[in-house]
Amino acid sequence: MKICFIMYPWERVNPAQDSTIRIIHEAVKRGHEVAITHTANLTIRDSVTLSLCKWIDSADKPPKSIKAFYREIQFKPEMSPLGEFDVIFMRDNPPLDNLVLNFLDSIKDDVFIINDVNGLREANNKIYTAAYYDPERELIPATHVSKNLDYLLRIIQESDQDKMIMKPLDGFGGSGVIVIEKSAMHNIRSLLDFYIHREKGKSNYVILQDYIEGAEEGDVRVIMLNGEPIGALRRRPPAGDVRSNISAGGTVERYRLTKQDKILCKRIGEKLVKDGIYYAGLDLINSKLIEINVLSPGTLKDINALYKVKLQEKILDYLEKVVESRNQLKEDFRPESLYDDANTES
Ligand SMILES: Nc1ncnc2c1ncn2[C@@H]1O[C@H](COP(=O)(O)OP(=O)(O)O)[C@@H](O)[C@H]1O
Ligand SMILES: [Mg+2]
Repeated sequence: MKICFIMYPWERVNPAQDSTIRIIHEAVKRGHEVAITHTANLTIRDSVTLSLCKWIDSADKPPKSIKAFYREIQFKPEMSPLGEFDVIFMRDNPPLDNLVLNFLDSIKDDVFIINDVNGLREANNKIYTAAYYDPERELIPATHVSKNLDYLLRIIQESDQDKMIMKPLDGFGGSGVIVIEKSAMHNIRSLLDFYIHREKGKSNYVILQDYIEGAEEGDVRVIMLNGEPIGALRRRPPAGDVRSNISAGGTVERYRLTKQDKILCKRIGEKLVKDGIYYAGLDLINSKLIEINVLSPGTLKDINALYKVKLQEKILDYLEKVVESRNQLKEDFRPESLYDDANTES
């Protein structure tokens, strides 16, 4: 099959840690035709959506080691129509540029896009999790999203919690995530003001969330494929920090999903698939969902190393199955096949 990765620049890939290169490596190893491209290369010419792609020259079997693969890889540049791929894998870094989705809208009926354009549109920031319907607060902590300073201040004042988490709506990698202590109320107006007005001429939404007990032990990353958990690990925050993100200095260890985690994954998994989000990274604390990462969740390499597995094999198995059934469907609906049937009848 032909598969295109729309991703961050190849030069920025760190082969020792990167998840995308592991999926690419597996695809090349299986003999698929693989191209990579960047959102800046998208074009429309004569009503056709194209991208300047770098096709991986895979005349030989790729080296086994990911580092050698990265070092030795050869590319051939080519302007390629995106509608002719079987799969487009979005592996761009957040925040997502909505215009990119408009380019993909034009080919979304022809290609299997992981994740679905509408799913990405809906779930590319933390509103998706905050708006998850959970009246009993079984799955997500109490979460407030607003850019109204006085309203947010009142939420903190009226809360029965000693501390809350504050974070920017569109942040990632742990950036801007802080604990607000009610005992330091005199700082909070200034902090809220700073978060809301951190960019000149623009106001930003802020999230206030109940602090989840047990967060000191770290959070849990679950990789979800087609609505099912395929791997998980625990990230522990460094001393003196609330954030467990690896990019914020968190360390990783093995983690076995609890019964409660599995219930959560099943319920969230059903919604993800319904929304076209076939590949995602969930962040859980104490069996509560704090975030769904849909754009380019990492930690593949860490889960692989901790469990001696290769999750990329499961991802490719899945993609091959999807493409096979899509091709079968196309085959079944060929106009000629209708005539074939008519002929047999007469
Ligand atoms: N409600 C919360 N209670 C306790 N810790 C939290 C909470 N929300 C976030 N954190 C900590 O901050 C980290 C980053 O938060 P997250 O919402 O996942 O944002 P990001 O997109 O920056 O990863 C989490 O991994 C966790 O360690
Ligand atoms: Mg996170």
